[in-house]
Parts: sequence; C-alpha cells; structure tokens
Amino acid sequence: MLSEIIKNKFTSIFKDDPIVVRSPGRINMIGEHTDYNEGFVMPAAIDKEIICAIRPNHGNKCKIIANDLNDSIEIDITGFEKSDKGWPNYILGVIEQFQRKGLEVKGFDCVFGGDIPLGAGLSSSAALECAFAYAFNTLFEHNLSKLELVKLSQAAENEFVGVKCGIMDQFASVHGKADKIFRLDCKSLDFEYFDFVLNDYQLVLCDSRIKHALASSEYNTRRLECEKGVANLQSHCNGINSLRDVSIEQLKKHEKEFDPVIFKRCKFVVEEIDRVIDCCDLLKKGDLIGFGENMFKTHEGLSSDYEVSCKELDFLKEKAVESDMVIGARMMGGGFGGCTLNIVKIDRQDQFINFMTDVYNRELGLELKTYIVKIKDGTSEL
Ligand code: GLA
Repeated sequence: MLSEIIKNKFTSIFKDDPIVVRSPGRINMIGEHTDYNEGFVMPAAIDKEIICAIRPNHGNKCKIIANDLNDSIEIDITGFEKSDKGWPNYILGVIEQFQRKGLEVKGFDCVFGGDIPLGAGLSSSAALECAFAYAFNTLFEHNLSKLELVKLSQAAENEFVGVKCGIMDQFASVHGKADKIFRLDCKSLDFEYFDFVLNDYQLVLCDSRIKHALASSEYNTRRLECEKGVANLQSHCNGINSLRDVSIEQLKKHEKEFDPVIFKRCKFVVEEIDRVIDCCDLLKKGDLIGFGENMFKTHEGLSSDYEVSCKELDFLKEKAVESDMVIGARMMGGGFGGCTLNIVKIDRQDQFINFMTDVYNRELGLELKTYIVKIKDGTSEL
C-alpha cells in the first residue's frame, strides 16, 4: 500500500515514527467555472491521493523528500524563497500562510508521494497543500477548523504559487465524504452532501494527457471576462455583486449592451449555476439519466460559450456519446486539457475503455489513460 511505502521510506531515512496524512484529489460532477463567480459546484474527493509522512525535528530545518520525483529540498523555516523547482512552492506557500497568521511551524522531516496523475486536472496541487496544512495543524496544535485549512490552502496557491484558482479544489479535498457528492455554495460556503448511488454505472475518467500551455493565462482571462460582465450589469441593475446574483432573463434583457464574447461567458456561468441546482433536484429523485444530460450540456457550454475546451476533449466527449455506453460525459476542471468525466454503464465498462483508448489512438495518434474512480473521504490522518 502507498501509505506503507511512504511511511517505511520515512522510517528508514529518519529513524523515527511519523504521523501519516492522506489527502485526496477531486472530481467535479457539475458546476464548472462557477466557484470564482460565487455560484455552486458539486465535487467529490476520490481514491487517488497524496500521502505525507512527517515529524517535527526540533530544529529550524525542514527536509522534504518528494518520493515519486526522486527529489528533495531543505529549507530554513525562518526564511525561505520561492523555489524554481515548482513542486516545493505548494508546501512553502502553506508554511508561509501559517506564519502570516502568526501560527508557528517548526522544523520538520517529511517524505511524501501519491497516485494522483499530475496535470490531469484532478487537483494534485490542492491535495498537496491540504495534506501539509492538515499535518502542520495537527503537529503544532493550532486547532484550525477544516474551513480555515481550506482557505489557507487556497491562499497558498493564490498568493505563493500565483494561480488564481477558486475554492472548489481545496474544499473538495478536505470535505469529501465516501459515496457522496456535495453541493457547495461558493458565496456562503454552506454545503450539503447528496448520496451518489451509481448502482448500474461507474465513473470513468479519460485522461487526454494534454495540457495546453494557455491553460492558466486563459483561466485568468475568463475570470476577468466574468468581472467585466458583472461591471456591465451593475451599471444597469441594482443588487449585483457577482454572476451568482444574475438570472438568465436579466442577462438576456441586457444582451445588446454587452460585448458578444463577454455575453457568451456570462451566459455559460449563469446557465451552469442553474444546472447545478437542477442536478440537486434530479439526484433527490434518483434521476441519474437527467443528471447525465446536464453534463452533456455543460460540455457544450464550456466548449462553445466559455471556450475552454480543446479538440482532444471535444473528441473524447463526442466519442463517448457515439459509443452509446455513457449517460453523461463532459470535460472537467479548468480546461485546455486534463480529463473527461464519464458515467458509464457498468456492464460496458471494459468495452468503453477499450473503445476510447483505441479510437483516441487511431484517430488522433494519442495515447489515452483511463481511471475508474471511487468517491472517498477527505483529508485525514491514517
Ligand atoms: C480549476 C480551479 C477551480 C475551478 C475549476 C473550474 O480546477 O482550480 O477553482 O475554478 O478550475 O471549475
């Protein structure tokens, strides 16, 4: 088991017993690009995780070993800079956030590793931040709540790593619950769990293994486009702070006053927020088919109106539909690469995986990776 491997590695190097924290990656069933618009999202934590074995060393040095990367860093807790290696910044950013709050992080030794595929849009970075936030909170007895850990991890990514992500990924990693998805209100941060009983279906991710370079710049552009849309509406209507406060009728009424691109972006977000609400009603009725239909619509909106898809993701969604083995399929996450999420008929699962792998290779000359995912609990100590 992964946790045993990481723990044993720690013990053999540092000759001591660590605490072991696991922190999962996430999927998002529906509600894409809505978190930073104060809308709703519907994510879950999955059975792919970061494992972190860690222990204070009673000094000022922190030795961090990234097992999968065969890499390590050593820093002084009293002063460190952003690392040009990339991966350490998710951890250093968390340390910095504790320090900014006046919460002490002392020197520590650590080995971490995981099985969340990198760059697949399953939020390995959020899982890493949350693993360390949880570990520091436990080891140095800071008594931060789960929500504080979420916010602190998001702030580490926004401010130290420099990615302006919303709150969904960190929230899902920390608050996930086995066999449940939850609706998070990104305005009030209230959330509600829903049973996610798949019975005759299985969740399968098709990893395009593409990560287009424009992902993060386009992500930031979309955020700005949404802000422009809100500013435009504010000059015509009262009581609007974000796209969450806008109805589709209101938006359409003012279409003429919009730049057409900004209008499309806002239309997608407003419709997507409505789809999440609709999906909650469908889940309560046990209507998974209706849920899946909304996923198809989300993909269309992300592709045509929000324009964050790419030819590989569109291809994977189209082929899934053609296969007739899915009841829902869509690109997932920020876009421009990563995975599609598919609700697949369980008795056709192998056939689906073979079909998708084959057609992706035959028609695009690319190698597909697929993952069957289960929904698991959020960040915890083992
Ligand atoms: C990325 C961000 C999230 C969210 C999604 C899109 O995963 O980290 O905050 O905005 O994109 O739904």
